[in-house]
Amino acid sequence: GKVAVLLGGRAAEREISLKSGSAVLAALLRQGIDAHALDPDERVLEHLRTGGFDRAFIILHGRGGEDGQIQGALETIGMPYTGSGVLGSALGMDKYRCKLAWTGCGLPTAASVLLRTDADLAVAEALGFPLMIKPVHEGSSIGMARVEDMASLADAWRAARGYDALVLAERWIHGAEYTCAVLRGEALPMIRLETPHAFYDFEAKYRADSTRYHCPCGLPEAEESRLQRLALDAFEATGASGWGRVDLMVDASEEPFLLEINTVPGMTDHSLVPMAARVAGLDFDTLVLGILETSLD
Ligand code: DAL
Ligand code: MG
Repeated sequence: GKVAVLLGGRAAEREISLKSGSAVLAALLRQGIDAHALDPDERVLEHLRTGGFDRAFIILHGRGGEDGQIQGALETIGMPYTGSGVLGSALGMDKYRCKLAWTGCGLPTAASVLLRTDADLAVAEALGFPLMIKPVHEGSSIGMARVEDMASLADAWRAARGYDALVLAERWIHGAEYTCAVLRGEALPMIRLETPHAFYDFEAKYRADSTRYHCPCGLPEAEESRLQRLALDAFEATGASGWGRVDLMVDASEEPFLLEINTVPGMTDHSLVPMAARVAGLDFDTLVLGILETSLD
């Protein structure tokens, strides 16, 4: 069959999606699959139908592509697609309601508060500094800041509102950052991230040479398994399916805290899922084929 690789889109992460998408497209073509790039506009469904496509590989990051919108549109025309369905995608793109779902399932996540009015700043302050300020529906750390005091909290809130009407303040977890890729119900080897930046920001993710990636992550096997189990539980709790990546922190007393889930994680040459897959013995092409197969699950 003919595969549409949906890439680009109009979210702030467009450039990242174009990188992820061209890597995915090249991998599919190398394996003899009839795949074509499609950058969705308002006529995307028409293009899919008239183009003779029979499934879609969704590699759109951010709003419109990772949040259930395109997934719902594909449902209405009965076209199979990779990754999570409407609910899992929508919850995964909403950092606030995702945390509510996790908390409801008894899964650990850092204390946080939505910033809606000036009064909420005082509530956030009560969580204790440092705080992470995050637009609720963004990715790749866009619009995020780590703040140490009330004045920078107010500034960061204003800046984050430029990206999203909803902004979250989350207690900073002192410890190590990890990520766990999930592919078809299995957790891949965990990665530990180390950056000299104040946090794992956009520069540290895509540009800096100073970011260190540890995979294998260096944890004792039983500890890694415990975190992988947590990642799988977190994945299921949001209704995600197929593939994705769960980000978490582990504090000094080895308590884990879920940060967020990505239902269309990056597939660029700096990205984490391909790195973990490699350690698991899956090269990039095999990984891409595995993800394509999630459209038939
Ligand atoms: N949101 C970016 C693409 C990631 O999670 O990898
Ligand atoms: Mg994300």
